[in-house]
Amino acid sequence: MNPPSLFSPLQIGPYQLKHRVVMAPLTRMRAARPSLAPRPLNAEYYAQRATPGGLLIAEASPVVATGFGNPGVPGVYTDAQVAGWREVVDAVHARGGLIFLQLWHVGRVSHSSFQPGGALPVAPSAVAIAPEFKAMTADGKVVDYETPRALETSEIPVMIESYRQGAKNALAAGFDGVEIHGANGYLIEQFLQSKSNIRTDQYGGSIENRVRFLIEVTEAVIGVWGANRVGVRLSPYGIANGSGEADPMPLYSHAITSLDKLGLAYLHFIEPRASGTGRADVDWKNVPSAMMLYRPLWSGVLISAGNFNGASAQSAVAEGHADAIAFGRFFISNPDLPRRLQRGYPLTPYNRATFYGGEERGYTDYPVHDELARA
Ligand SMILES: Cc1cc2nc3c(=O)[nH]c(=O)nc-3n(C[C@H](O)[C@H](O)[C@H](O)COP(=O)(O)O)c2cc1C
Repeated sequence: MNPPSLFSPLQIGPYQLKHRVVMAPLTRMRAARPSLAPRPLNAEYYAQRATPGGLLIAEASPVVATGFGNPGVPGVYTDAQVAGWREVVDAVHARGGLIFLQLWHVGRVSHSSFQPGGALPVAPSAVAIAPEFKAMTADGKVVDYETPRALETSEIPVMIESYRQGAKNALAAGFDGVEIHGANGYLIEQFLQSKSNIRTDQYGGSIENRVRFLIEVTEAVIGVWGANRVGVRLSPYGIANGSGEADPMPLYSHAITSLDKLGLAYLHFIEPRASGTGRADVDWKNVPSAMMLYRPLWSGVLISAGNFNGASAQSAVAEGHADAIAFGRFFISNPDLPRRLQRGYPLTPYNRATFYGGEERGYTDYPVHDELARA
């Protein structure tokens, strides 16, 4: 049997992908304001990147109003947001594509200026992100992170309920599935890691306890979608937003083996060599490979992301290190990325200045290859 290729089909849950070039979740901060609902420009952007049988993972979307740390990010907790997302989903489906939504809560990676009533951000523990990282306020000032307010034990079921409601809203919007954002130093990762979780209740202390929130959120979301339409994203060895576990192996081994029992659609890694949030173009050397380390613990579909190009993606799939590869930055600047990779067309470089916020420039105005050739 031939080894799999980036362009051979892949079964993910009930869906048969026609290729394995996945669009990674990408925060672009271009939702309508003040509703924070997706708008026609967002639908156009996703539709441009849809391919028949190709999987897009829509940008991280807070499941509740306390889950924001950036302006212009779309939510998934109001009727207007669900209606906006439905337009996005319909546009992607019209092109034969599949689209999952990434469910988000930023936890302490926020500022009181984004919080309802100007309250402090909430987190597992009252531990601020170190001052070498800076927060941006809602009016654009760069400041130190505040010390968040630790969630009471009694508030944790309420937070899990927010994820369940976000999952229900995503279902109502017509998505094909959801991905739980457990990466990049946000709320779920804050629970996982000992640096940000010093709780003394059943959600802190031992590895089992720190993994509990991730598992309970995942089970709640599975209750809405069924396991085979739910993915989870993790970034072991990542350092985004002040995260980082001194010894990730025991923690992530336990998290991944626990998730593996749930029969999820997929597990999605951000490789440690890439900066988790893509804020800088780093390519760390001499760091572990998440897909290679943890693949033996995962029996399902594995997606990996982080500094891949066509050749490295192809070899990761052919060698069985991952089943599919998610592309972030190159999917921003190449709406027809799968086709370009398949045909070996050159890739358009991305413009970092237009990643976050703005209108169509750097968003819907990147050409497809044929347009370039004609120009
Ligand atoms: C502009 C931008 C926004 C991002 N937003 C998200 C996000 O919403 N959720 C997430 O899990 N990762 C996010 N990431 C990380 C990407 O999904 C991806 O893992 C990272 O860019 C590495 O892949 P790449 O080298 O192909 O760009 C973002 C990255 C960039 C550049």
